[in-house]
Amino acid sequence: MTIALATQDTEQATSEHDRSFREDVLRGLALRPKQLAPKYFYDERGSQLFDDICALDEYYPYHVELELLPTVAADLSRFFRAEKNDELSIVEFGAGSLRKITPLLNNIDTVKNLTAIDISEEHLLNSCAELRRRYSGLDVTPLAQDFTLPLPLSQTGLTRMGFFPGSTIGNLHRQQALEFLHNAGQTLGSGAYLLIGVDTKKPEHILHQAYNDPRGVTANFNKNILTRINRELDGDFDLMHFGHHAFYNKEHGRIEMHLRSLRAQRVQIAAREFYFAKGESIHTENSYKYHPSEFATLARKAHWHTRRLWMAPDDLFAISLLQYKPATTKIDDR
Ligand SMILES: C[S@@+](CC[C@H](N)C(=O)[O-])C[C@H]1O[C@@H](n2cnc3c(N)ncnc32)[C@H](O)[C@@H]1O
Repeated sequence: MTIALATQDTEQATSEHDRSFREDVLRGLALRPKQLAPKYFYDERGSQLFDDICALDEYYPYHVELELLPTVAADLSRFFRAEKNDELSIVEFGAGSLRKITPLLNNIDTVKNLTAIDISEEHLLNSCAELRRRYSGLDVTPLAQDFTLPLPLSQTGLTRMGFFPGSTIGNLHRQQALEFLHNAGQTLGSGAYLLIGVDTKKPEHILHQAYNDPRGVTANFNKNILTRINRELDGDFDLMHFGHHAFYNKEHGRIEMHLRSLRAQRVQIAAREFYFAKGESIHTENSYKYHPSEFATLARKAHWHTRRLWMAPDDLFAISLLQYKPATTKIDDR
């Protein structure tokens, strides 16, 4: 009975996901400028392509954060000991291949369980299975959900820490980022911690190289959203007639990724027609860059207070430890 219900729940969630994908795509392509949500990059192929991006030298956010994490984890281990938080329950948002949890697990010996949340279900299940093989004592629960929504987590009685690496928060507009932080607070609970990696503002040429690699891996990642529409929504995008375009928008403090139509063309999706003028683009992703103080101010608006801040060499990347205290509760906000 339980198994039948669980299967039914999964089927319902899948068809709900299919429906919102279709609605979001049709709505986004009817807008001016046309736009698609970056979460739709990530099917199994998209997750693999993101891993390929991480293997590029140019994609500094991945390497710099991964190099900083062992120092962060060793400090955290001391911090939690001093705070008398004996056992930790970690909730990772946008877990991907679960590579960045490794430095935490290797340095903090009080982590009892991990809930790994990601929208890319197949990839998530494989990543969790691999992690279980490497850390046999760790209780690992995959949760294939949209992390922007409040999530019902069962009580563990342990100290809870969210983990949100990869500067994935930068993919959200400021209002969406505030909503994410608010919902994460509700999900994790009063007094919980959030360890979050945030990319910083820096000279434009470094940003430009990171999102315009010469081998075209980022371009393939960007175009995967069209492949996915073709497959799942009976679309007929010709990938040859769209070009990857990424640039730093200084006014908004963000990298923008677009897919630019290389000629005037019509595309059919789910029996609907969309017209593209030559040069018209679909805005597929933003990656906001924050000064650490700018990010701390944003987080504080959602009642997350900065407890620690680690900066990578040359201030290329920042990792913050935040603590959630809704207005009525007092915390030591050093
Ligand atoms: C930029 S990648 C970062 C991956 C990994 N955390 C890292 O730091 O290398 C973003 C990850 O978040 C997931 N993701 C993006 N939007 C999501 C959403 N709305 N809900 C759940 N997962 C999402 C993607 O599938 C992907 O694994």
